[in-house]
Parts: sequence; C-alpha cells; structure tokens
Amino acid sequence: MRILNRLLIQSTFRYHYRTNTVKAQKKSNTFNLEYDPIKQTIIYPPELLINNKNYPTDSWTNVNPHILSRLGQNLHRQKNHPLYHLTNRIRQYFYQQKDPRKQSPKFSIIDNLSPIVTVQQNFDSICTPNDHVSRTKSMNYYINKDTLFRAHTSAHQVDLIRSGLNAFLCIGDVYRRDSIDPTHYPIFHQCEGVQLFNKEELFMENRNVRGEKDNLQIFASNEYRDATKQEGHTLEAVKLVEASLKQTITDLFKTLFPNAATLNSRWIDATFPFTHPSWEYEIEIDGKWYELLGCGIIEQSVLENSGLGKDYIGWAFGLGLERIAMIMYGIPDIRLFWSTDSGFLSQFQFEDSTRPVQYKPVSAYPQCINDLSMWMNKTRIDPLDLYDLVRSIGGDLIEQVLLIDEFYHEKKDKHSQTYRIIYRSMDRTLTKNEINMIHKDIENHCQKQFDVEIR
Ligand code: PHE
Repeated sequence: MRILNRLLIQSTFRYHYRTNTVKAQKKSNTFNLEYDPIKQTIIYPPELLINNKNYPTDSWTNVNPHILSRLGQNLHRQKNHPLYHLTNRIRQYFYQQKDPRKQSPKFSIIDNLSPIVTVQQNFDSICTPNDHVSRTKSMNYYINKDTLFRAHTSAHQVDLIRSGLNAFLCIGDVYRRDSIDPTHYPIFHQCEGVQLFNKEELFMENRNVRGEKDNLQIFASNEYRDATKQEGHTLEAVKLVEASLKQTITDLFKTLFPNAATLNSRWIDATFPFTHPSWEYEIEIDGKWYELLGCGIIEQSVLENSGLGKDYIGWAFGLGLERIAMIMYGIPDIRLFWSTDSGFLSQFQFEDSTRPVQYKPVSAYPQCINDLSMWMNKTRIDPLDLYDLVRSIGGDLIEQVLLIDEFYHEKKDKHSQTYRIIYRSMDRTLTKNEINMIHKDIENHCQKQFDVEIR
C-alpha cells in the first residue's frame, strides 16, 4: 500500500505568512511536494520549476520550500538594508584603489549572479577533491546531482577570471545546511575578492639599488611545495602577493571599523582546496575573537582552469557579510536580516552608508522552550535533517535547536534523541497555543519523515 501525504508546504508557508516575511516570495517557486511514509522520503516531481527554469530532480534533490521562498530577495541590493550599507562601504574602499596606468578603479564589482550553480562551478572548477566533505548532501542544498544553491561565492572565481577580470569582488547569497542558533542561518551573504598579478604588476615597485628592475620571477621549475608556498612559485612572488592580500584586508577593516587603533586582529593558518597557503582573519572585540574571512594564494591549478595559469599569480578571500554587519551594527540575531518589520528596517533608512549606527532592539520578546523526544525505529536521525525539518515548519520563529540527549537502548534495540526547540519571534510575543500547534506539526512530520515514536 502506498500512501501519499501532503507534506510541509502549507504549514511552512502558513507560518511564514504569520511572521510576515514572504514579501518577495515568487509564484514560480512553489512546490507541490508529497511525502511517502513507507520510503520515508519527500517525493519530488520529475522536474522543479525554479525562477522559470525547469530542473530535473533525482536522488540528490534536497532543496526545501523555506530555501526557495528566500530566492531572489537579494538583501545586499535592497536599498537601506544593513547588508546594503555594508556592501556599499566595501565597494567604496575597493573603488578607491586605482589602476596606476589607467587611473580607473582596479576592481570590478559583480553582485547579481544567480545563486543556482553547477557542481562543476561550486567544487570542480576550484579543485575541490571528489571525496571532500564540503560536497556532501548533508551540507548543501542540491536541486539535483549536477546543480545546487552555491555554498560560497568562490563558485564564480573561474568564470569571472575567464571573462577577462583580473581584480574583482563578487557579492551574493550563499546556502548551507547548518546548525540553528542566533549566528547561523541556512542562507547568508558573502563577498569574494580576487586580485591577479603578472610579472610586471607584481615586481613593478621592486627596483634594485641602481634603480633597475630586479630580474625577479613568479615561477621557477623544480620548486617544492611546503607550508609557505606552492610548487612552481618562487618565495619572493608569494611573499609579495601575501603582503598585498594582508594589507588589503587589514586596510579594509580599518575603514570598516574606524576605531581600528584599538582593533586587535590576527591571522590563523587554514586550509582550503583552492588556496595555498591559506589563512583566516580574526578580530577581537570586547575580549572575544571573531572569524571574519578565509583567504589565501590561489592554487595555480585554479588559474590554469581559468586559462591564466602560465603568467599570473593571485590572491582570493571570501568574507561573511552578516558576521561583520552583526558586529558593526550590534545586531544580536542573524534572523533579523530577514525581518520586514519597520522597527528594524527604519533604523537603517539613511543615504550615507558610512554613518555609524547601533541597532536598538525593538523590544525583547520572551522565548518559549519545548522539547522533542523520540525513539527511532530504525536508523539514527542525522541532526542536520532534523534542523531542516524544524526550520521548514517553524520558519523564523525557530531561534535555536539543540540536541540535548542521545542514547541507545539495548533491550529495545532503539536509538533515542531529545531536541530542545527554542521558539522566539523577533517582533511579537508568541502564545503558548500557537507554539503548541507548531510543535505538534513538527512532531507529526517527524513521525512521517523519520519513522519515529514521539515519547
Ligand atoms: N570560499 C571559502 C568559504 O566559503 C572562503 C575563501 C574564499 C577561502 C577564497 C579562500 C579563498 O569558506
């Protein structure tokens, strides 16, 4: 017997309407999804129509209506949104940097590329190994095995370099399946920066004591890879590019945080598949260190994929915009960026993006805590799947979901998990009744989707 139940969709959208965040929801991005309780999977239609384009579905498909409803909102381009002001300030800083020969801005700024990209763009083009954990279904929103919502703006590096750009910023929304708390949301915004140098550009300033150009090279054969550099690069070239990268970033943050005299920062060694060496940049505020970006010297094989591998060397960085805006404006919760509440938005209604503003909470509404305990009849639930389900039903009323208890009962031969779900609205007090209804809805969908008994 094959029973099909309608899943999630209505309830998801119903709660979104109640939190009034559906303004930009597009008609074309509604799904008619069904649920098969025997196979315990969502049944996707053979094709999904997203932004007027049809995408075939397959066993990789795991997008959900919550994600789709956010598509096309482009918060970074919404006039007077805090992310708009922040990107304006980053723009201003990079526009001031002039190409010495042409006196025109060095950096091009691209902020309108579609977040739907291919696996080739998001991973292969930037040399992410086939078995790299960042490719997994549990970390990304796939439309099908070849197409996904970009997990980072690095997905566009190779295309933009190929199109002829040597220095650019690429700004946009990125999508990741993640835990739920006040600093994590499945969609956030990144700004990618890339600058490439050929031999003249890199060594232009470098003259020897007699005022002649040194005969310095970017590439040398038989060069080794170690912690400081890639094989094939000379150390002097890498050090100059590294200095340019670190100078660019520290100067950017001095501009963004003008009281920089007291701003402590540090570089932490890191690893990315597309840069080597790589670093993370952190700043200290009130005794707490915040990681703001990842960066490094672009892997030469990425430049080879872009057709520039022979003559150029370059740096890249990717910074998270919400993280910076939260610090800059004192915004306490990442969900606020999606608020359409005038109490929030009106605080950012000004023309001059450099204006220093501190967000004042409209009012603090109480939290409401409900636990969800269940026995799993078969396999253990992956918490990321549970987070997704909770978010798709509770929408922005979910402040946090914590796995607070987990054990295996030998006699029963069953796993048990208990999640704590913390509900809170950003703009009103929730009634107990309303929360109970949502909680019940979550329990029902858990039973259907995961084959569990609610305890
Ligand atoms: N794409 C990386 C991320 O999202 C950040 C990054 C960009 C790191 C460019 C190095 C170079 O985490």
